[in-house]
Amino acid sequence: MCFRLFDLDPDLLPLFQYNCKKFSTPEECLSSPEFLEHIRKVMSVIDAAVSHLENLHSLAEYLANLGKKHQAVGVKLESFSTVGESLLYMLEKCHGPAFNMNVREAWTKLYSTVVKAMSCGWDIPGKVE
Ligand code: HEM
Repeated sequence: MCFRLFDLDPDLLPLFQYNCKKFSTPEECLSSPEFLEHIRKVMSVIDAAVSHLENLHSLAEYLANLGKKHQAVGVKLESFSTVGESLLYMLEKCHGPAFNMNVREAWTKLYSTVVKAMSCGWDIPGKVE
């Protein structure tokens, strides 16, 4: 999933900095425990969304705050779509033919709902609350 992420957008690499240290290659980033931990964090958010499918609004405040934190570290909203693309890529690779159009659509819907909730925490200049 993450090689795919940096293939799609190599400019995301410098956003992952731990102790002010930038990675020079995707390989270096992927072998860092902090980055691997971030992958677990992403997947735990997806897991929480799946378990709260019937009442996703209960995660709204958490996700808006999570969005705010990402804006603060310099993430652009569009970059979440790139993460979504690499997530779908990874799911397709793992599930093969079982990952049909309906399954793809369901994951796309779930992920975009998560991103929409995260984007509620985004401060857009001139945005009226
Ligand atoms: C290009 C996209 C992204 C970038 C560059 C990015 C970067 C970061 C960075 C630098 C941190 C702080 C350090 C750390 O905890 O590792 C962080 C924290 C976190 N990220 Fe991301 N992230 C991205 C996408 C996502 C997505 C899509 C999710 C979930 C759906 C997510 C979930 C989290 C969580 C749960 C934390 C921990 C927040 C906390 O400590 O309260 N990230 N992210």
